[in-house]
Amino acid sequence: MNLVIDSANVEAIKNLNEFLPIDGVTTNPSIIVKEKGDFLPLLKEIRNIIGEEKELFVQTISKKAEEIVEEARYICTTITGSILVKVPVTLEGIKAIKMLQEEGIRTLATTVYTPMSALMAAKAGAEYVAPYVNRIDNLTGNGTQVVSDIVDIFSSQNLPCKVLAASFKNVQQIQDVFLSGAHGVTAPPDLMKEIFHHPSVERDVEKFREEWLNQYGVGSNSLMSTK
Ligand code: E4P
Repeated sequence: MNLVIDSANVEAIKNLNEFLPIDGVTTNPSIIVKEKGDFLPLLKEIRNIIGEEKELFVQTISKKAEEIVEEARYICTTITGSILVKVPVTLEGIKAIKMLQEEGIRTLATTVYTPMSALMAAKAGAEYVAPYVNRIDNLTGNGTQVVSDIVDIFSSQNLPCKVLAASFKNVQQIQDVFLSGAHGVTAPPDLMKEIFHHPSVERDVEKFREEWLNQYGVGSNSLMSTK
């Protein structure tokens, strides 16, 4: 199961990487532009934070397959460590994924809205596909169903490609895609933290502590200082 941060915000990545069992970071052009800096130093800083082994996903911006391949080579020779190149699932993108597989460059097929485009990307050699759950929902489609269909097709066709579901606006969507068999999710930092905002948990923790301090005294705020 992959848990990936969908952000290029250095502070947020540092924080989540410290607290959660994170496997990597996904970026896209919008996410990088939002940070308003030079993109290569930013990617290198993210690499420093997460280390060489965790996956860093970087998206190409060219439209022609040959140019996408050039960009992919550039990224892979400029940024160290485990890199996956995100390629949109256009016709040119699928051609680029095929070419990149022949070169041993790992890819994630992005902007996936339909099971058929995911199937094409997987057959072309993508290691991951990223269906856009919330964007599909916004089109009055069913993002979770698309994820479920992709998982079923990959399984019935024995394709090793993994589904890294993307584009989330609430925790329910994340839970739903895991129930649908997604191999992982990439989600923005705020949403990952939202998973832990549960009033019952906060209430229970406060109550446990209050009862303990009432019994053993105000200095007994850890098991070691409790007599
Ligand atoms: C990640 O790979 C996608 O680019 C991202 O999840 C899109 O999310 P959005 O729909 O919230 O922009």
